[in-house]
Amino acid sequence: MTVQSPLPGGPGLAQVRRLVTEIPGPASRELLARREASVARGVSHVLPVFISAAGGGVLIDVDGNSLIDFGSGIAVTSVGNSAPRVSAAIREQADRFTHTCFMVTPYEEYVSVCEELARLTPGDHGKRSALLNSGAEAVENAVKIARHATGRPAVVAFDHAYHGRTNLTMALTAKNMPYKDKFGPFAGEIYRMPMAYPLRWPGGPEACAANALDMITGLIHTQVGEDNVAAVLIEPIQGEGGFIVPPDGFLPGLAEFCQEHGILLIADEIQTGFCRTGDWFACDHEGVVPDLVTTAKGIAGGMPLAAVTGRAEIMDSVHVGGLGGTYGGNPVACAAALGAIETMAAEDLPGRARRIGEIMLPRLHKLAEAYPVIGDVRGRGAMIAIELVRPGTLEPAADIAARVAKACHTAGLVVLTCGTFGNVLRFLPPLVIGEQLLEEGLSILEDAFAAL
Ligand SMILES: Cc1ncc(COP(=O)(O)O)c(C=O)c1O
Repeated sequence: MTVQSPLPGGPGLAQVRRLVTEIPGPASRELLARREASVARGVSHVLPVFISAAGGGVLIDVDGNSLIDFGSGIAVTSVGNSAPRVSAAIREQADRFTHTCFMVTPYEEYVSVCEELARLTPGDHGKRSALLNSGAEAVENAVKIARHATGRPAVVAFDHAYHGRTNLTMALTAKNMPYKDKFGPFAGEIYRMPMAYPLRWPGGPEACAANALDMITGLIHTQVGEDNVAAVLIEPIQGEGGFIVPPDGFLPGLAEFCQEHGILLIADEIQTGFCRTGDWFACDHEGVVPDLVTTAKGIAGGMPLAAVTGRAEIMDSVHVGGLGGTYGGNPVACAAALGAIETMAAEDLPGRARRIGEIMLPRLHKLAEAYPVIGDVRGRGAMIAIELVRPGTLEPAADIAARVAKACHTAGLVVLTCGTFGNVLRFLPPLVIGEQLLEEGLSILEDAFAAL
C-alpha cells in the first residue's frame, strides 16, 4: 500500500485534535503488519500510528486522525515539523548539492553552523566545533577529544545518565534495560557517581546539592584519582533518566571542582539544548560554562545533525584527520540547522519555552494535589515531567505511568514516559505549539488521572 500524504505539513495544518477512527486506525494497522514483517523487533515505538504529515503542535496519521504532540519526536522538532525556514533551506540546499563530504571538499554551510555554535553555546571564549550525525556520535567524540587533550583515561558519568546506544555511550548510560542488557562487554575507564536527584536524595532536597558534591568529589579522590580523570560528563537536566533537575549550586560546584583539577566538564545538552529549557542552553540558567558541549536533536529541526563545541585549545589539540566521518555536517542538515536557528531567534523560542512552563507547571501542581500518585512535578521551560509513586512513598509506580500514557494516546495526545524506574511522564511539546492546544493536552492528561 502506498500511503499518500493527505495534506502538506508544517504550521499551516489545522491546529486541532481530531479523532476520526480508533487509535490505531485501519490504515495504521495495515502498516503495522508490514512493519512487523520487515523491521527489527528491537526498534520499538511508543504509539502504533503511522504519520503522514505534521506541523505546529499536531501529528496527522494515515487514517486522518490529528493528534496533539507533547513529544516533538523526543525533543527534536522544537521549531515544529516542516518549519517554513527549515523546509525552504532544505529544498534550496538539496537542489544545489546534497553531499561532497566536508573532509574532501568543504562548503560554507558547515562553517556557518560552527559559527552559530560558537556564538550561542555558553561562554565567550574562543571555540571550535566538529559536526557529527547523532547525539551518541557527538558524545563519543567529546570523550575522544577530552582524553586526547588531557592525556588522561577516566571519564566520570552519573546515575540515571543517558548518552546513547553505541558501545562507549552504552557504557556511559546508566540504565540496563532496554539500553545495555547483554550488549556488553562495554568500553572501560567509566566511573559512575551518584546524581543529585532531589526527590530521592536520602538527606532530602535541601541537603542534596552539598551532599552530592561531597560524595562525588570524595569518590573521585579515593576511587579514581583526580589526575586520572579526563572529563566529567553530565546532562544539565537529565533526560531519559527521568527529567532530573539538579538543585541550584550543584552544577556550578561541579564546574569549580573540575576547574581546580584540570578535569574537563562536558555538558551533554543534546536534549536540553537549543531553547528547550527556556534558555538557549540549560547551562545558561546558572551561568555554568562547560569546556565541551554536545548538541543534537533540536539543532536542525528534525534533520540528523550533532556537534561537539569546545574551547579552541582543547578542540584543536587533536591532530589533523583525528575527527570526522563521511556524513558528519551533511550540507542539507546544516542548511536545516541554519533555518532552525534563525527560527528560534526570530520567534523567540526561549521565551516560548518559558511560557509553556508557566502554563503547564501550575496545572500539573494542581493535579498533584488532587492525585497523590504524583510524587513530584519538575522541569524547566518546555522540559517538564511528573514522577509517579505509590502514594505516601517513593516506590515507583511505572504501571500507573503506563496506564496514563495509554489513556492519553487513545484520546489523541502523544506523551512519552521515561526514568530509570519507568515511572515518569514527560512533556516535550514543540515550542511553537498554540496555547489552546497545550491547554487541551493538559485537560486530556487530567481526564486520564480522573479515569484511573
Ligand atoms: C542527553 C542525551 N545524550 C545523548 C543522546 C543520544 O542521542 P542520539 O539518539 O541522537 O544518538 C540522547 C538521546 O536521547 C540524549 O537525550
